[in-house]
Amino acid sequence: MSAMQQWLADQARVRSRRGVVRSTEVRTRKALDLASNDYLGLSTDPRLKAAANAAVDTYGTGARASRVVVGTLPPHLDLEDQLCRLTGQPAALAFSSGYAANLGILTALGGPGTLIITDEHIHASMIDAARLSRSSVETVPHGDLTAVRRLLAARTQPRAVVVLESIYSVLGDAADLSAAARLCAEYDALLVVDEAHGLGVAGHGRGAVHAAGLAGTEHVAVTATLSKALGSQGGAVLGSAALRGHLVNTARTFIFDTGLAPACAAAAAEACRIIMAEPELAQHVLGNAADLAAGCGIERAAGVVQSIPVGSAERAAYLASALAEDGVLVGCFRPPSVPDGISRLRLTVRADLSTGQVRMAAGLVAQLLAAR
Ligand SMILES: Cc1ncc(COP(=O)(O)O)c(C=O)c1O
Repeated sequence: MSAMQQWLADQARVRSRRGVVRSTEVRTRKALDLASNDYLGLSTDPRLKAAANAAVDTYGTGARASRVVVGTLPPHLDLEDQLCRLTGQPAALAFSSGYAANLGILTALGGPGTLIITDEHIHASMIDAARLSRSSVETVPHGDLTAVRRLLAARTQPRAVVVLESIYSVLGDAADLSAAARLCAEYDALLVVDEAHGLGVAGHGRGAVHAAGLAGTEHVAVTATLSKALGSQGGAVLGSAALRGHLVNTARTFIFDTGLAPACAAAAAEACRIIMAEPELAQHVLGNAADLAAGCGIERAAGVVQSIPVGSAERAAYLASALAEDGVLVGCFRPPSVPDGISRLRLTVRADLSTGQVRMAAGLVAQLLAAR
């Protein structure tokens, strides 16, 4: 066996022993899905499918090139316009994923002259982005704006970027965006808010940044994914026209990446239109999330993500597979997604679930947790 094959086998054994083996199996059994991020149920909406199909008919299946070569197509510009209307931001730039958007903005803004301050619970894509940016990077305890202030006050770099999530992807709690934005304005830093779990849900669907009255302000920029509440695929950075221009010219994950597939852009643009026309969708999914939390007997988190700490990775895996046996799929977050000892179940509802479905699932979860 080659050294590499031997190492792969050893690593697989370690993962198995720790109970952290991940799987890419297709779930074919009919089950109630409380694990995906399709918060508004738009990924199967006939209007998004029609928009995607029309884009395929008109432009083909791929963008064929980088956006800065010949890969920019009308659906990209329509999407960026719709994202601006939805979020109230002056400019938007679409990327091929939320991951690429996060890598793009931090690497384009970072470097030796920039201090990047990150909350300890930001998404892996932002952690990678900060590392790749060649900036000085400081991580603060979750939600600790006093620590952010201390670092901003002591900084020696001319520029600083503070990175938070509006609704945290695993814990489900909300950042205090107003306080963070005030702090960034006071110390002339840029607040970058990852709205992956806020857009389409918070602020009647227009996002937590819009709800806080921060859209279009000088010290705030937003990143988003099109693959959660918007039911499509792709990502975006939203902010000033100057920021957009800088990213088009310097963000490596924009320049050296094939443009977003036109069908994805068209579907996401249609999702923006639907969210603006039907703000009750966001209210409905939040109502379902409240019902789920109440039924599970847990404190309700701010957005759709409801997170239940269950201790060890093994216990999280056991509970998730027991629920799957009962026909309910939930997210199972174990190391390296969360630190050791605080593995958790992550439950997400959708706007298209009935109250009966939500209550049935909550009942099963409550029963299982009580049997511990
Ligand atoms: C907070 C957060 N940011 C960024 C991303 C990446 O988005 P995408 O899946 O579009 O790459 C995710 C997706 O899991 C996320 O949860």
